[in-house]
Amino acid sequence: MSAVPVHEGVCLRDMCDADLAAVIEIEERAYQFPWSEGIFRDCLRVGYVCRVFAGLQDEVIGYAILSVAAGEGHLLNICIDPQHQGAGLGRQLLEQVLELADHLRVHILFLEVRASNRAAARLYRSAGFREIARRRNYYRAENGREHARILARVIHAPYTRP
Ligand SMILES: CC(C)(COP(=O)(O)OP(=O)(O)OC[C@H]1O[C@@H](n2cnc3c(N)ncnc32)[C@H](O)[C@@H]1OP(=O)(O)O)[C@@H](O)C(=O)NCCC(=O)NCCS
Repeated sequence: MSAVPVHEGVCLRDMCDADLAAVIEIEERAYQFPWSEGIFRDCLRVGYVCRVFAGLQDEVIGYAILSVAAGEGHLLNICIDPQHQGAGLGRQLLEQVLELADHLRVHILFLEVRASNRAAARLYRSAGFREIARRRNYYRAENGREHARILARVIHAPYTRP
């Protein structure tokens, strides 16, 4: 995929091995319990949809990782560099993911979010995601464990006969 301009000075393009140092550096600042480098490498290796938002100097300012199989999509990670958060980029990146899911004929897109992650929950809700279940004590947390909310959004309802 060639770089597609999505916002003033911001392009969406494929993530590559050379981006990993910058991606991990952002991941470690953005999350209390970040993914390891090995997880990102595995996502690239198995061919998940891995995209970055890149700025004017091609520097990474955000990224999203999506797995798609049998018409189901799972948004595994979406993140904006904390220095660029609150400027509308997270919403734009999510819109790009939704467009991509549509293009890939995904029927339903799932994601998991920590119960305490209010910013992400508001973003997902406004983008049409709804909670369908909870995984109790799913995530490590500072004081023990915390629940995961499983959210879903229909992208393409599969064709069914009445
Ligand atoms: C979630 C995340 C991607 C949002 O990116 P962002 O660029 O900051 O978000 P935007 O500026 O596009 O804001 C989009 C919406 O998110 C919500 N939001 C963003 N920051 C918020 C905050 N501090 N408090 C409450 N809601 C917030 C709002 O609904 C906002 O819409 P609004 O501005 O119309 O109210 C970003 O906060 C992030 O990378 N967080 C760390 C990683 C993470 O938690 N990822 C999600 C894992 S499930």
